[in-house]
Amino acid sequence: MSTGNHPYAPLISQLSLEEKVRLLTGETAFTLPGNEAIGLAPLAFSDGPTGVRGLKFVGGEAVALFPNATLISGSWDDEVAEEVGHMLSEEAHRQGIHVVLGPTVNLHRSPLGGRLFEAYSEDPYLTGRTASAYVRGMQDNGTAACLKHLVANESETLRNFMDSRVSETALREVYLLPFEMAAHDAGAWSIMAAYNDINGVSATENGHINEEIVKGEWGWDGLLMSDWFATKRTVESANGGLDLVMPGPDGPWGERLVAAVRRGDVSEDTVDEHVTRLLRLADRTGGLRTGGLRVGGTDGTDGGANDGGPVASPFKTGMPAPDSAIRREQLRRIAARGMVLVKNDRGALPLDGAATGAVGGTVGGAVALVGRHAVATQDMGGGSAQVNPPYQSTVAEGLAERLGERLTVVDGVDVRNRPVPANPAFVADPVTGEPGLRVTYLAADGTELESAHEAGSALLIGFDDGRAEPPAAVVLSAVLANDAGPVRLGGIGAGRWTFAVDGDDVATARLAFSGSDPGEGVLRPPAYAEHRDLPAGASVTAKLEFEPVDWREMLGRNPAIKLAEESHLLSTGSFNLVGLVAEPAGRTDEEAIAAAEAAARAAGTAVVVVGLTEEDETEASDKRTLALPGRQDELVRRVAAAAERTVVVVNAATPVLMPWLADVDAVLIAGLPGQEGGHAIAAVLTGEAEPTGRLVTTYPAADGASPAWDVAPDAALRLHYTDGTAVGYRGWHAGNAPEPLFWLGHGLGYGSWEYGEVRLVGTNPAPTLEVEVTNTSSRPSRETVQVYFTPTEPSDPMRLAGYAGADVATGETATVTVTCDPRLFRRWDDAVGSWAPLGAGELTVARGLGDVRARVSLP
Ligand code: BGC
Repeated sequence: MSTGNHPYAPLISQLSLEEKVRLLTGETAFTLPGNEAIGLAPLAFSDGPTGVRGLKFVGGEAVALFPNATLISGSWDDEVAEEVGHMLSEEAHRQGIHVVLGPTVNLHRSPLGGRLFEAYSEDPYLTGRTASAYVRGMQDNGTAACLKHLVANESETLRNFMDSRVSETALREVYLLPFEMAAHDAGAWSIMAAYNDINGVSATENGHINEEIVKGEWGWDGLLMSDWFATKRTVESANGGLDLVMPGPDGPWGERLVAAVRRGDVSEDTVDEHVTRLLRLADRTGGLRTGGLRVGGTDGTDGGANDGGPVASPFKTGMPAPDSAIRREQLRRIAARGMVLVKNDRGALPLDGAATGAVGGTVGGAVALVGRHAVATQDMGGGSAQVNPPYQSTVAEGLAERLGERLTVVDGVDVRNRPVPANPAFVADPVTGEPGLRVTYLAADGTELESAHEAGSALLIGFDDGRAEPPAAVVLSAVLANDAGPVRLGGIGAGRWTFAVDGDDVATARLAFSGSDPGEGVLRPPAYAEHRDLPAGASVTAKLEFEPVDWREMLGRNPAIKLAEESHLLSTGSFNLVGLVAEPAGRTDEEAIAAAEAAARAAGTAVVVVGLTEEDETEASDKRTLALPGRQDELVRRVAAAAERTVVVVNAATPVLMPWLADVDAVLIAGLPGQEGGHAIAAVLTGEAEPTGRLVTTYPAADGASPAWDVAPDAALRLHYTDGTAVGYRGWHAGNAPEPLFWLGHGLGYGSWEYGEVRLVGTNPAPTLEVEVTNTSSRPSRETVQVYFTPTEPSDPMRLAGYAGADVATGETATVTVTCDPRLFRRWDDAVGSWAPLGAGELTVARGLGDVRARVSLP
């Protein structure tokens, strides 16, 4: 494209080639360089998607922690997603952020995917609708959304090197659909290209997807940035539709791209096209003085081109604080809305009388609350989506507030498979006495470079801390809040560790990265801990001497990995996540289970909170099983045998196995509920809030019993998407896996529903149904009417084609109109390379495919 015929051409024409190229790689980990002469402000990006973390990867300022993605999609309600997008934009305004790196619109393909908690669903339409509403809510308030990760990035194992082999039909109909809906229809202003390859071509170089489909066929005019360190080659990425390399300041573009243009391998028009898209993004987010959208900025002047004045701040003031009353209300309400009641026999929930505080309800009054997740509720997953929340709430706190003396709380069994950074409340800076650590940075000769307080007990060194030279060693010091006795003590991070207690060296350890993925090395560094008997209030120092990692050598160990010299990944070796491990060594699992049994027997009603942790549901690695970690299944079984009534709360975003399902009365899927999580769960358990959620993913009955399972690529690094378009429930419906535990769309809520007449009232451009639903329960409740389409042609699987919800008072009937989306009534005909209509078939009205209420044939 030539620069002559668009509004940014006069600005671009003022820049030399070097200046243009400079704009196309980040300045720091999360910012872009500005350019005063053309009135371009340095743009600021922040992760996403479950909070706006700010410019620091670890240990940044306190920001609101939202319920994870599956709780947002779990509401099956555009209004909820739009409100979340708007709230995130407010968080962005508060921190001066132009672009939020979310939503994640990859799909829940195999339930083993470590990062599914960031993504909405196994279904592309539910994902696309949720993402579109989120994008609208965010961008209507002036903050850019970034759809990630384009595309076929459904698992983490070897994510930088693996090649997702997907048919063009599955790509178009399934994996690209959420991008199409949120980019083309909702108009997301940016997209992030994934780490992986798609059919042999890197996502950052994939001209077919980036240029032909996204920018070409969809006419999308936003900016395509790389995932962090994902750009592998200079010329191929610049010509393959990538507009921006992240992060900076170094990377495969810079001087190399200038030289490639001079050589004629990349045309200057291509560079101009990337700059145009960058300027458009800046314009849309208020980072360009001459912008159309933001003309006038906040100071009432129109700026005008190059008038020399500063770019007016586009950021609104007076945004709610992360711990304000309004945020608490919003975050609690949204979390509760997305929770899913999957079983509720004998009316076990809500806990009677609890909402009003009345003592002695029909469930016997007393409640034993059991489980590690009851006292350490997991509010978020791991990796780049993590934020530093102002507070976190536990189910124990939430229920104690509501049940008072009726409640007994018993900690559960161990749920971790790796040591974790110390709870900051357990460690204090020896210099200031504040919670957290003292961190001393040392040069190679041992001289002290700096000593600083760290509010958390883990930090990322060398990435976003503004240090020109990484230190050769760090010393983490803390005074522990321990009683005399056993403490688990250790460190997280690669290198040589020396641990000292009260001045005496007590242990050394050498920890090395394993695996062949630098991202995993950074996000999940090696960790070590051992039990030590310590005096009360022990003073601990842990010195870590870094050992440089030769990524070239490490990656070379896998012969299938071939990296170009300029690959951005090769420069990730200089930063390290480090942390201090320190926690009281508690009682044994057997003691914990025995205490739980006794409490359950005494109370009659038991609530057991089980779940996964941020080690299981995390970026950079996948799960190996859906079984709950540790002895949690045994804990549930033994408590259920002891109690009269047992309620299980699953504190995880993605499917877990429930071998005890028949032994318990009720199961609530609570997701990863964010900072208000403990209160939201308690509000649902006591009936103060309605769990209106419906499952966003089908729950397999056993490991391996799903249409797609393996997440590890083969020796040639290929992962074959053999399930084609029959992803998730579509594949189960086609008989590709044994009967699931629970279907997508399943969810009981506290209402009960009778379906009346179902009328097909339109077919153009897609079917519209009117469905009568009556709330036959004694509470006001909400129903979500789901419509699935099964095309006549057996090769085209059943698919969710429309849904709509309604709040209905007790005994009332509502007519719910479901307008199906025409995109689900087309098929990609690969032989001719175009879409063909899919008209005939059957519509199924269902509360998840395990509870079908009506069928309508489509001639
Ligand atoms: C993740 C992205 C994230 C980026 C920046 C990458 O590791 O894949 O989703 O936005 O880091 O933190």
